[in-house]
Amino acid sequence: MKKFLSYFVPVVVCLAVGGLASYIQSGSIQEWYPTLERSPLTPPNIVFPIAWSVIYLLVGLSLGYLLSRGDRSLVALWMLQLFVNFMWCVLFFAFRNPMLGLLDILLLDVLVCAYIVYAYGRSRIAAWLFVPYMLWLMFATYLNGYILVHNGDGGRERCAVAATLSDNLKNNIDMTYTVPALPYEMDALSPAMSRETLEYHYGKHLRTYVDNLNRLIEGTPYKDMEIEKIICEADGAVYNNAAQTWNHIFFFDTLTPSQKPIPARLEELLKRDFGSVDEFIAKFSEKAVGLFGSGWVWLVADEGGKLSIVAEPNAGNPLRAGLRPLLTVDVWEHAYYIDYRNRRADFVKSYWNIVDWDKVDSRLG
Ligand SMILES: [Fe+2]
Repeated sequence: MKKFLSYFVPVVVCLAVGGLASYIQSGSIQEWYPTLERSPLTPPNIVFPIAWSVIYLLVGLSLGYLLSRGDRSLVALWMLQLFVNFMWCVLFFAFRNPMLGLLDILLLDVLVCAYIVYAYGRSRIAAWLFVPYMLWLMFATYLNGYILVHNGDGGRERCAVAATLSDNLKNNIDMTYTVPALPYEMDALSPAMSRETLEYHYGKHLRTYVDNLNRLIEGTPYKDMEIEKIICEADGAVYNNAAQTWNHIFFFDTLTPSQKPIPARLEELLKRDFGSVDEFIAKFSEKAVGLFGSGWVWLVADEGGKLSIVAEPNAGNPLRAGLRPLLTVDVWEHAYYIDYRNRRADFVKSYWNIVDWDKVDSRLG
């Protein structure tokens, strides 16, 4: 029984601390992490909880092994490193401060090395059980350092880049959101986009999102907010309907029946960041056709003006990541099913014939 408790207590303590750390981490992984410039070596998010679970188990077993032999000499050091480990999660993920995170994790590296050295003199098994932890920490130290070096301000703030829709969306009488008029006739985009598609997509789907948004925000603090602020701050149904309203208005506003050549400034930037306009179109199309399920693909600019392509599932809007939207395509099935049935690739191909490049260029600011 005593031997069982020797293992059980440290393992449970470790896993409890790990569970709490994962809880703190999960919010940042969803909101803050995507806004950071991260190392190309960063593993997929799913790897982190799996790796930490295994490592915490081994860390608990290491002390458990020593305790089972009646050796309590490393309990204090073990607890100290676990505390510093937890503090790294707090400083890096909760406070979102890569500098304090790096200082903490460097201290942790020293403590864990010290534990391994001291443990080795008492039990090689206890020391070896800490080695995967040490290797993972070295990797985490590198990732933390990379984020610090490449994101001097700790990453972009949500909605740091001002981007608003050109139309005033609110009705001045009761301050409810309205559906703005299209800048072209309903049949003007045919054959790329038929009147019937617009009657449903613009006339019914967008209308539903706007009605839902008005209903959901009535009597809430969101009622007096700009729609961009709602997108940045809300979650759940309010976010979904605000973002779908914004995305659709932005999308319809980017289309034109009388396309002109790409302005020189935009063409230069596309060449700079994608190699050529054709390569940009090919990459964007690939993401649009390949996006699983419903969503939006965006051309965005970061705060330094660098252009990139972002694929967002469902109602995803890059404003939340502090990116400036320049161009988008709606790849929800309702956007193309009437004209193209299930042939999303054909829809995306036609889409390039009705993009208003002047509008895209004007959004560069
Ligand atoms: Fe849509």
